Amino acid sequence: MSARIIGTGSCLPSLVVDNRKLEEIVDTTDEWIRSRTGIESRHIAVEETTTSMAIAAAQAALEDAGISAGQLDLILVGTISGDCVFPATACQVQSALGAERAVAFDISAACAGFLFGLGIVDAYMKAGRIRTALVIGAETLSKMMDWKDRSTCVLFGDGAGAAVLREEEQGILSILQASDGQKGDALICENRRVNNPYRENSNELDYTKMNGQEVYRFAVRTVPQSIEKALDEAGVGADEIKYFVLHQANIRILEAVAKRLGQPFEKFPTNLQKCGNISAGSVPVLLDEINRAGKLQRGDKIVLAGFGAGLTCGTAVLTW
Ligand code: COA
Repeated sequence: MSARIIGTGSCLPSLVVDNRKLEEIVDTTDEWIRSRTGIESRHIAVEETTTSMAIAAAQAALEDAGISAGQLDLILVGTISGDCVFPATACQVQSALGAERAVAFDISAACAGFLFGLGIVDAYMKAGRIRTALVIGAETLSKMMDWKDRSTCVLFGDGAGAAVLREEEQGILSILQASDGQKGDALICENRRVNNPYRENSNELDYTKMNGQEVYRFAVRTVPQSIEKALDEAGVGADEIKYFVLHQANIRILEAVAKRLGQPFEKFPTNLQKCGNISAGSVPVLLDEINRAGKLQRGDKIVLAGFGAGLTCGTAVLTW
């Protein structure tokens, strides 16, 4: 038996900020952002929160799956931008849904958070501990950006995506997770420093800092390797894959991965143009778009892959 995705959902903030609007607050241009990343606009939370979007995405996914919250055994939220330090966003979602039976906790794996969630579901199902699970990727990274730092703030957007999984004959065929803590400094947000009356310089806050080129190199090397390994483990050829649903950080990264895999770029759906990088939300939001557009048929084989801070990388091959 394996974990099969039986429903998806997503939620994006109503405010859309295009590149030209960013030109008003930071020293950048629409041309630079488009040509270096492919991003044209992003959704930014004003009234929405990480939790409210996670709940909305979860409700849409449950409806799409045709199951009730009471059937859920596990709720996982991949997030690095929860509204509270505690309780976990997943517990807040559990409460809002009324999913009383479900165990709920968050996963801190940045942009690979949704994939790491799928990895946990896969393992729990194989161990016979659960039959039905909800995995969410939800972020409001806008609150962790230095809006004066043009090298980071133009890249990210807010939003949430969710998937319901159930134990079935066909589903996840292989799933890989990898972490490289040695490269942790390449993408870091240190805003939880030691802070108490006995320490000088308490209350210092910091924002997201990134060595873009290092992350770029990691992505174009690690992601294709990970996909090839996951395909190998699944016994599936790249040509059999209908879609490669990859983390939406930069269109040049996606093009490089397609090239390395020798696959046509048409197999790599994108929404980064309108959403930017939603971190853990990227893959499930894009998956929901494809699903709702009717582009997936039962039995299709797809690849999901996320990568980001940690550095982390998660890849899954699955039958729809
Ligand atoms: N607008 C205008 N100019 C900008 C800019 C912006 N928003 N951001 C950076 N620049 C400038 C830099 O200051 C630099 O100027 P200089 O040459 O005068 O010093 C120049 O553009 C080139 O910067 P560089 O960082 O070398 O650009 P790049 O081609 O590497 O592209 C990224 C930068 C961030 C788009 C690219 O490295 C990238 O996508 N990396 C991966 C990041 C990622 O995926 N992160 C998330 C992982 S989950």
